[in-house]
Amino acid sequence: MRLEKFISLFILIAIGVGSTTATTTLNYKDALSKSLVFFEAQRSGKLPHIPNLSWRASSGLNHGSQENVDLTGGYYDAGDNVKFGLPMAFTTTMLAWSVIEFGKKMGHDLHNARDAVKWGSDYLLKASCHLPNALYVQVGNPNDDHKCWMRAEDVKTPPPVYKVTPSNPGSDVAGETAAALAAASIVFRGIDPQYSKKLVNAAVKAFTFADKYRGNYSDSLSSAVCPFYCSYSGFQDELLWAAAWLHKATKNPTYLNYAKSLGCNADSDTFSWDNKYPGARVLLTKEYLLEKNQRASEFRDHAERFMCSVLPGSPSMSVKYTLGGLLYKMTGSNLQYVTTSTFLMLVYSKYLLVSKQTFKCGDMSVDHHLLRQVAKKQVDYILGVNPKGMSYMVGYSSNFPRRIHHRDSSIPSTNILSGALSCDAGFQYLHSSGPNPNVLTGAVVGGPDENDNFADDRENYAQSEPATYINAPLVGTLAYMAASVQH
Ligand SMILES: *[C@@H]1O[C@H](CO)[C@@H](O)[C@H](O)[C@H]1NC(C)=O
Ligand SMILES: *[C@@H]1O[C@H](CO)[C@@H](O)[C@H](O)[C@H]1NC(C)=O
Repeated sequence: MRLEKFISLFILIAIGVGSTTATTTLNYKDALSKSLVFFEAQRSGKLPHIPNLSWRASSGLNHGSQENVDLTGGYYDAGDNVKFGLPMAFTTTMLAWSVIEFGKKMGHDLHNARDAVKWGSDYLLKASCHLPNALYVQVGNPNDDHKCWMRAEDVKTPPPVYKVTPSNPGSDVAGETAAALAAASIVFRGIDPQYSKKLVNAAVKAFTFADKYRGNYSDSLSSAVCPFYCSYSGFQDELLWAAAWLHKATKNPTYLNYAKSLGCNADSDTFSWDNKYPGARVLLTKEYLLEKNQRASEFRDHAERFMCSVLPGSPSMSVKYTLGGLLYKMTGSNLQYVTTSTFLMLVYSKYLLVSKQTFKCGDMSVDHHLLRQVAKKQVDYILGVNPKGMSYMVGYSSNFPRRIHHRDSSIPSTNILSGALSCDAGFQYLHSSGPNPNVLTGAVVGGPDENDNFADDRENYAQSEPATYINAPLVGTLAYMAASVQH
């Protein structure tokens, strides 16, 4: 015990020394490439052979079969084997927004980023093709799934599927689906106009359904979605978000009128798979600042109040920062709030730069430099410039989480243990103290606690579980950082 403590202290000191030099050697380009490899590993459905991911194989080829619908494909949200529609659609929207803002800076990673968007949008097209009768919003029951520790490849019984319908509506999940399809249509407009058109048409259908049949999906789906991805913020934010993206995709003024008609709902310092208000307002303010659309001017104050609520030193700051400098909102998966906030700061920095604008938080002046500087500090913290000298992106640098809460990463692959493992047989790997046998390259985990401590413990899922919506906004952020440090 004592010796172990001594050794870990020694390691800490060694890393502490190393982390001062890390500032100059962060490789954002490498981190960007890796952040996209993660999306390949989260894929469900028929997988092509991927050299870097020989431990993943096709899975879920019977998804939807019991209802005679094709729900194969899409992404597992995190470390389990459930496909949750609300976070999957949000992930797709944020990947698309990353490409729309920063795709030109991605170099050869642009191709992989578009593929990541398409893996999401292809699935959302299948899930929405039965509208206006039904939108499929989930494959798998999390309560049952969480009783097992299994490889996705070993799940053979078709998991239950969930849908929202006119009599059991879900304006939250339908609104986010509309946003994702509309955002993806912009990504593919120039490269595959037919596919892009298909996406816009599906987005309009999903939006119409969300608007016409109003309700929270948690009310009809209850324990299948709550407390996992319960719509705590309601659905008004998704209606605004969907209208903002449809306006961007179609330029049809109806959608801007709709967004304006929703009125001024409360400001929020949280941008997440649940709450879309800050993102919607920043996106609508882009139209005002960059496209000079005066009719979108009312969203600017909201967008800037969000910035003021997360900027250190701002009199209206309502989030916390750790001593090590990390934006800290909540115990569970805190890094998701870091990556979403950082993304909004960087896009807003870009809008201010291009429109030659600044704004104020009380007496504090904010310009594009300041937003960029704050965002960069957060990204650097994630990649290792932090008190533990640890990269919270798996596979980046040499000190990263080894015991992440992820079934396929923690169980030896089918290449090694070829027979199917039962529901219970996997738990020995959850409880093992050894490192995961399969490195989930590019995954960003939930992250450290409010004292900058990180357990690297598979059972501490609040800290050690990765999620697609932590990574998605980081893709755009890393593309920006990679391009701007080159000169
Ligand atoms: C993929 O694998 C190749 C060969 O093993 C390796 O050189 C490369 O760095 C890997 N890429 C990533 C992103 O891990
Ligand atoms: C939806 O959920 C929100 C947040 O819990 C709540 O305020 C709202 O009243 C709900 N709407 C409906 C129609 O149930």
